[in-house]
Amino acid sequence: MNSTDFVVARNDLQQCKIIETRLPDAATLPDEALLVKIDRFALTANNITYAVLGDQLKYWQLFPAPENFGNIPVWGFGEVIASKHPGISEGERLFGYFPMATHLVIEAADVTKRGLRDAAAHRQGVAPVYFLVDDFLAENEFYGAQSVMLSSASSKTAFGLAHLLHTLHKDIRVIGLTSAGNTDFVRSLGCYDDVVTYDRVGSLLTDQPVAFVDMAGNSELRAKLHRHFGEQIKYSGRIGLTHRSSSTDEPELPGAKPTWFFAPDQIRKRAREWGPGGIDVRFSAAWSGFAPMLDRWLKVVEGRGEGPVKQVYQDTLAGRVPPDQGHILSLTA
Ligand SMILES: NC(=O)c1ccc[n+]([C@@H]2O[C@H](COP(=O)([O-])OP(=O)(O)OC[C@H]3O[C@@H](n4cnc5c(N)ncnc54)[C@H](OP(=O)(O)O)[C@@H]3O)[C@@H](O)[C@H]2O)c1
Repeated sequence: MNSTDFVVARNDLQQCKIIETRLPDAATLPDEALLVKIDRFALTANNITYAVLGDQLKYWQLFPAPENFGNIPVWGFGEVIASKHPGISEGERLFGYFPMATHLVIEAADVTKRGLRDAAAHRQGVAPVYFLVDDFLAENEFYGAQSVMLSSASSKTAFGLAHLLHTLHKDIRVIGLTSAGNTDFVRSLGCYDDVVTYDRVGSLLTDQPVAFVDMAGNSELRAKLHRHFGEQIKYSGRIGLTHRSSSTDEPELPGAKPTWFFAPDQIRKRAREWGPGGIDVRFSAAWSGFAPMLDRWLKVVEGRGEGPVKQVYQDTLAGRVPPDQGHILSLTA
């Protein structure tokens, strides 16, 4: 049996190809292994960030690929089509990290000790990141800031956070920073009090303390904001790298020192403080307020097969995906 995999050159993300890899079938599956058919997965700038950080954060190690190539991890659903593990039945559906592929063999040890537990941890660890940033900022009383600026305001991660800030913290002004082409979309969301294009950030008033939550990871923009606001920047959190224009050699900047927001730290802290199920309960509450907005804000676009997967990958890499689209892909026939 074969799996169809989509792989990219690690040092040149423009280069991508489809390969076939040999898989065991139900009869030859090793003991305690699962054969999973990957039904569908989402692809956004987040997955491009995984590829950009593939070496640094070891994302390339998750799934096998030919030398110098990598299989980008995606979030998706799979179905167990063969199982040699007594605790997992055929037909079981799994949500979690998958490769961009049609199939995956999972060692049962991982499934029992990590896989299924991972699936729960992943749900806690990634989807609610905006929930956790909101929680983290609120817990720290916004570091004294009266407004929060979000870069790549058109990204799903940003408007998830903006929605929470807007609904839960009415006294905090939410400012979206975006590119000219995405301004109308960001304005239409209604969760930003103000929307400013990147070339106009110099016009922002500096009379009040601000916090900056950075999804774009653009060194030039960050420097411009820190120099403009100076000591009024009370928090500068790095979350994403959508613009892929981060310099490795960044100068010291005025205001709060830019630091990576590391969700697992906050998850561990809250898991201790809130006890079993505490994060899930709060996440469900945050999600149930956010999910109804998505029908209005996002069009789910489904793509199936090698051509659409390649196209959506290239469009996502080049930043050509309109912000109101959410792409769900599949390599299975
Ligand atoms: N640290 C964490 O745990 C964590 C968790 C979730 C997400 N994130 C990060 O947050 C970021 C957003 O992820 P997402 O899934 O929300 O992405 P998304 O919805 O696909 O973001 C799309 C937006 O990103 C900007 N963009 C994308 N590609 C670009 C390109 N090639 N050139 C310039 N701008 C580009 C554009 O926004 P503008 O025009 O508005 O700039 C675009 O509308 C990613 O970097 C992701 O890794 C981090």
